[in-house]
Amino acid sequence: MTEASSGRDRIAEGFRYLPAHLTMDNQRALLEDIRLVVAQAPLYVPRMPRTGKALSVRMTNCGDLGWVTDQAGGYRYQPLHPATGRPWPAMPGSLLDLWRDLAGVDFPPEACLVNFYDADARMGLHQDKDEQNLDAPVLSISLGDDCRFRIGGTVRGGSTASLTLNSGDVVVLGGPARLAYHGVDRIYAGTSTLLKNGGRINLTLRRVTPIQTPGTES
Ligand code: SIN
Ligand code: FE2
Repeated sequence: MTEASSGRDRIAEGFRYLPAHLTMDNQRALLEDIRLVVAQAPLYVPRMPRTGKALSVRMTNCGDLGWVTDQAGGYRYQPLHPATGRPWPAMPGSLLDLWRDLAGVDFPPEACLVNFYDADARMGLHQDKDEQNLDAPVLSISLGDDCRFRIGGTVRGGSTASLTLNSGDVVVLGGPARLAYHGVDRIYAGTSTLLKNGGRINLTLRRVTPIQTPGTES
């Protein structure tokens, strides 16, 4: 990550980049899991709050909760798919295993947002801050075509650095970087053959609700 190394001081502490964390076999197996999720919970076109402008990515979720956005309701988590009205499919074991290995917390994730990017899709700089629980990191997994990923600090308008994310790479936004601004500038179409028809899938695992701890510490 030469580009990002030169900008390391601009990236919030707690950002971890794990290149090629998933083997090709892992990637194929995970893709199969995601195909089953999408068969039950189809990708839908998310829309910006208020303006109703369509995002360029298509989305679905698995887990107890899913992140959704539409014109009327805005950004939120909910237990039901907005188009089918059905509960999200269960989170595959492969994703729970990754969370257990990498999240560094002893509670499970509740949501996995599935983003599908075609060649022209992108995602503007934003913070993931719709979760009540900020103790857990956001764990992000890339499959398919490469992308240019942008990461900055926790202040809007601050400087940023970019790096190329390849299929099988994992990124962790934890600690101070939990609220780091991040986004996807562009997709490098045709750089991976993992997805038969091209494109990029990004999976982000999140804990949404607080952990109930019995009693209080003294
Ligand atoms: C996201 O921020 O939800 C997606 C990031 C990515 O696609 O790498
Ligand atoms: Fe995000």
